[in-house]
Amino acid sequence: METSEGGLIKLPQPRLFKFLPDGSGGIRQSTYSQLLQFPMIRINENYLKLKASYLFADIAKRVNEFTAANPDKSVIKLGIGDVTEPLPEVCVQALHDGADELSKRETFKGYGPEQGYAFLREAIAKGDYSDCPISADEIFVSDGAKCDSANIQEIFAEDGLKLAIPDPVYPVYIDTNVMAGRTGENVDDRYQGVTYLECTPENNYVPAIPSEPTDLIYLCFPNNPTGAVATREQLAAWVDYAKANSAIILYDVAYVAFIRDESIPKSIYEIPGADEVAIEMRSFSKTAGFTGTRCAYTVVPKKLQAADSAGNKHSVHGLWNRRQATKFNGVSYPVQKAAEAIYTAEGQAQVKAKTDMYLENAAIIREAITKLGLSCVGGDNAPYIWINTGTDSWAFFDRLLNEAGVVCTPGAGFGTCGEGHVRISAFNSRENVVTAMERIAAALA
Ligand code: MLT
Repeated sequence: METSEGGLIKLPQPRLFKFLPDGSGGIRQSTYSQLLQFPMIRINENYLKLKASYLFADIAKRVNEFTAANPDKSVIKLGIGDVTEPLPEVCVQALHDGADELSKRETFKGYGPEQGYAFLREAIAKGDYSDCPISADEIFVSDGAKCDSANIQEIFAEDGLKLAIPDPVYPVYIDTNVMAGRTGENVDDRYQGVTYLECTPENNYVPAIPSEPTDLIYLCFPNNPTGAVATREQLAAWVDYAKANSAIILYDVAYVAFIRDESIPKSIYEIPGADEVAIEMRSFSKTAGFTGTRCAYTVVPKKLQAADSAGNKHSVHGLWNRRQATKFNGVSYPVQKAAEAIYTAEGQAQVKAKTDMYLENAAIIREAITKLGLSCVGGDNAPYIWINTGTDSWAFFDRLLNEAGVVCTPGAGFGTCGEGHVRISAFNSRENVVTAMERIAAALA
């Protein structure tokens, strides 16, 4: 007899048996026909609406196949936005110091507060929100903006909630709502029932306010994938729209550290009244190279309210606090110490030097792409360059991979409006970026 997956035992006959409870505390063998009366555990069928795999997993698969078939060819990865520069020195020192504290009985720490240590929440409030009506206890430290932007939707209703989601978009926003059953089926690459906020060359990749009411609005500026930024006026219009519709904006500012234009708001809370309608998510991943170290935070203002089905109002802050206390155990102490170090004068200077380096890479990419006669945006206040190739984006991806050995991200992976575009990330060493641009120039010449 041979045991196969799922506890089923294959007999030579070939008949399937499974051990089932016999109702009196024992077990009995059951044939397959009997099993039909005891159906298997069922899946969340919303998952069946999703594309087969996550965009970056798809890309990694194609790159692995290429590398396996071409072991002698070097590949430069400008696809997923993963940092390459080492952590700022202040963070490394703080990590060491934090680990040393854990090595001594007097300073050892076990579970930390699920919301984050007060020292970090206070440093964030002072460092990032001194001009905004946000206090330390409205800041929830977490292990990533990806997780927070994925998890936050679960405190809102599953039924009847109208989503507004950009296209192209960071896939996590839409996929997590699909998983939760807030969308219909995917028809022609669009989930039914979603209001798509189209970002096109015509609107300079900044979407217009929808003409119909929506409830939960996802915005990301500086934008992933287009690198577009929103002006104060544009953000103010979104805040007005959210107020008029009793909606909530989920504002993802993971790329805030790349804003160099002083007129661009760094936080949505710079817009008066935004603390009544917006949740903001930030991350140390791109700011300070924490993609592997993991630390981020989400701001949920105490003024933010949402209703139950009877119309009673509830504090969204209270719900998120309850969710985090139940499902999350906090970020490790040394990592929070490392994040705190970013807010020192030295830390700020080191972070600026790293992000400046990536922005210089972005300028090199823009120049090289423009010279090739392709139009592109982004890269001046963001680490992404969004290239309008006017051709099938997966075909362009394959061409760059096969002919230049350079990995980009096909725009179609971010949504229908991403077709005809590819994204190139500035996250890599200077040497690799320069080489990649030379190879692309040679391949496309
Ligand atoms: C990206 O490449 O879009 C990002 O690195 C993905 C992420 O931050 O999770």
